Amino acid sequence: MTQELTSPSPAPQAPGTGRGPGWWRDAVIYQVYLRSFADSDGDGIGDLRGARERLPYLKDLGVDAVWLTPFYASPQADGGYDVADYRAVDPLFGTLQDADELIRAAHDLGLRVIVDIVPNHTSDRHPWFQDPELARQRYLFRPGKGESGELPPNDWESVFGGPAWTRTDRGDWYLHLFAPEQPDLNWDNPEVHAEFEAIMRFWLDLGVDGFRVDVAHGMIKAPGLPDIGHGAQAQLIGAQVLPFFDQDGVHAIHRAWRRLLDGYGDARGKQVIGVAEAWAPSAERLALYVRPDELHQAFNFQFLNAPWQSDALRSVIDASLAATASVGAPTTWVLSNHDVVRHTTRLGGSLARARAATLLMLALPGSAYLYQGEELGLPEVTDLPDEVRQDPAFFRGGRATGAVGPGTDTESAPDGAAAGGQDGFRDGCRVPLPWSGELPPYGFGPGGSWLPQPADWGGLTVAAQTGDPASTLELYRAALELRRRLPGLGDGPMSWAPAPDGVLALTRPGLLCTVNTLGHDVGLPAPGTPLLSSAPVTVDDATAQLPGDSCTWWAI
Ligand code: NOJ
Repeated sequence: MTQELTSPSPAPQAPGTGRGPGWWRDAVIYQVYLRSFADSDGDGIGDLRGARERLPYLKDLGVDAVWLTPFYASPQADGGYDVADYRAVDPLFGTLQDADELIRAAHDLGLRVIVDIVPNHTSDRHPWFQDPELARQRYLFRPGKGESGELPPNDWESVFGGPAWTRTDRGDWYLHLFAPEQPDLNWDNPEVHAEFEAIMRFWLDLGVDGFRVDVAHGMIKAPGLPDIGHGAQAQLIGAQVLPFFDQDGVHAIHRAWRRLLDGYGDARGKQVIGVAEAWAPSAERLALYVRPDELHQAFNFQFLNAPWQSDALRSVIDASLAATASVGAPTTWVLSNHDVVRHTTRLGGSLARARAATLLMLALPGSAYLYQGEELGLPEVTDLPDEVRQDPAFFRGGRATGAVGPGTDTESAPDGAAAGGQDGFRDGCRVPLPWSGELPPYGFGPGGSWLPQPADWGGLTVAAQTGDPASTLELYRAALELRRRLPGLGDGPMSWAPAPDGVLALTRPGLLCTVNTLGHDVGLPAPGTPLLSSAPVTVDDATAQLPGDSCTWWAI
């Protein structure tokens, strides 16, 4: 008998949910990068109404929750991660009422909503920074070095390039680990703590189900702000504890927020969560952020950065699962986001690998985040003209690697692929989504799009892929449907099964997942009945042929 399939055959209905306590432990959460998702008003920039109108698409895709990137009042010096008013919606994206309506509409569809919170820094247009007296208490100002204070207070570099300090008219300097328009807050000041707790309550009262905590490893700086004494700091981010990243003191903040989130949720019979965007040097240090009294999830960037090799993938999966299990937390997998090269391009420019990597990720125990457009197999856009670029790192001579951790620069790209997208900057993964039609803006909105879309995306639109069983969109839909239906997926046990070199085989209750990381077919005894595969798998009598760069789920 020969079987070929890329879409699911009927699977047994799950008798129960099989899920541990906590919706977030195995949730699939879809990142909406708002300005590039869907535009309702024709200004070429995605907005809250556009996103609300597309919620049925996300429901149909099969995700559990949506994470919205910042839509707060902001001069947009860093795509909204420079917040001037944490309680106001930027007119670019709509109104507070639009946010309210989006949250309600999502809940009506059974989707939860997570919003960003940006506590390491504000915009320089924030009223606190605009008031010289307040600013000196609530941000990090220091006198300069040198005879007349003309040198920065220490040798720290901004992750976007250049010194992490800017001198004021008054002659002192303020710290900004990111752009000069993003001054770092002084978390030694209790008023800063109180303000962020109030901001969280504001959005919780509007109904959000959690927060993605930006730079969750950054708020606390080492006492005395000591020099690093190393010329290439970008290489050290995520590789070691730095005086400004992953300081032990950040954990007290996360503990306080966990008390707030638990208290708020308990009083209302719901679970509201925090997810850390934290760059820690090891799986063990990352696990500290998800101890039972800290945040619920932390993005696993070590998995994202793993090369497409079976041994490397297996060891990063083992290390991640062991570290999070040691604190009783699930692992939170991610392959793409708005800061890194899309994984289709990062994994050697191979859609086959990207599809296989996604099926692997969705077979692993824990939660997973998807980045808008990966379900369409979108590649990184690598030929944007300089005049349209907006990533502040581009203008400061930095590299995206400094913003988001190691592994996104061309040097450390897996397989030597040009993983830096466009010179390592981040606009290439932020190009607006193609929804329908043959020409830009492909149904993104009634106007154009803030970044130009490639002329050859007509075949990648949602409309073009819908209903085509070979499409990446239908692969994602099928995988998410199976994940919901099969009790063995999501949270729960996993173990490795024997497999030939270059192949991974992992078992979940009732299911086996094979991943062939080699560029050619591998034959092996058929482990069961194929349920879903990223590429057509054949089973002849008792022998399965796994296509190169493929992942298959088998019912066992
Ligand atoms: C991480 C965000 O994802 C990124 O886009 C931003 O530039 C930095 N944090 C600074 O807020």
